[in-house]
Amino acid sequence: MSRKRKKLRLRKEIKIAIFILIILIILSIYGIDKYKEYKYHQTYEYKLLEHNYSKEEVSLILEKLDDNYINKLLEIVYNENIYKFLSEKYCIVKNLDRYLDYYKKNSKLDRTKVVALVNTNRDRDLYEDIQDTDVSKDILMLVNKYYALKEDFVPENIVRVSNSYAYAGNSIRSDVLEAFIEMANAAKEEDITLVINSSYRSYKDQNEIWTYRKNNYGQEKADQYAARAGHSEHQTGLAIDIAQFNSKEQDFENTPAFTWLQNNAHNYGFILRFKKDAEDITGYAYESWHYRYVGKEVATKVHDEDITYDEYYAYYVENN
Ligand code: DAL
Ligand code: ZN
Repeated sequence: MSRKRKKLRLRKEIKIAIFILIILIILSIYGIDKYKEYKYHQTYEYKLLEHNYSKEEVSLILEKLDDNYINKLLEIVYNENIYKFLSEKYCIVKNLDRYLDYYKKNSKLDRTKVVALVNTNRDRDLYEDIQDTDVSKDILMLVNKYYALKEDFVPENIVRVSNSYAYAGNSIRSDVLEAFIEMANAAKEEDITLVINSSYRSYKDQNEIWTYRKNNYGQEKADQYAARAGHSEHQTGLAIDIAQFNSKEQDFENTPAFTWLQNNAHNYGFILRFKKDAEDITGYAYESWHYRYVGKEVATKVHDEDITYDEYYAYYVENN
């Protein structure tokens, strides 16, 4: 073979090799793309988008829900309430099904209200599924119609309150008394005399109060203002009913003391526990006189966010 022919053949072979190489490159790019597409189609992002969820909805769903829940979502039709509930400020993800269920049954309520009600167990009947109060939470413990103290629960540091700060016969946790004295002294500077009207009550005391009310006004009325035994914050030693000393005003809400407490109580660690128009959450009628000690930081947050303690506890204490 002449040199020239050899050269031509080599050139031809190189051309063929380059051609094959180009084909291989094209095929592999195509293959990689196809593989990537195949892989993407397996993702929840793709499946949810295909299920009519928007990009925004998908990103929140992926952030908040686990694979099991997403699989469940993919089996049912698109539901706009998923995103809307997940976007609620106080959304507790494990309650999502309960929100959806309660909203379905109560479609006139707004979603914020549904979240508040479900977080505080109001999608259940009062006194249904009662749990033990987690007393290890100390000043943050929750006692209400769903969380109860045992009959033998007695706070450790209960002390007598002197007559300068209470009507006779009142006892309270010593740390609460300290906070109350600080608060009462500050109110005094504005000529307001705060006085403790009722404070620590044992399980037995509470039972007598509730039974008396029940016998005289019927169970429904009794439940509106008095806790059943084990369900009263007064048994924690953290709750006080406040009066304005020497006030002739029957209704505490109309006293300067009440107005002062509204603006200042949180700075001393106290919150108004049974707020106005919150009976659907707290399960009790409005009590302008009943304050609960939770410490300054939490009291300020509860006050600033304008929520009940039941809501605060569900979201910030129990959920964390
Ligand atoms: N009055 C409140 C609800 C109580 O009895 O604890
Ligand atoms: Zn009270």
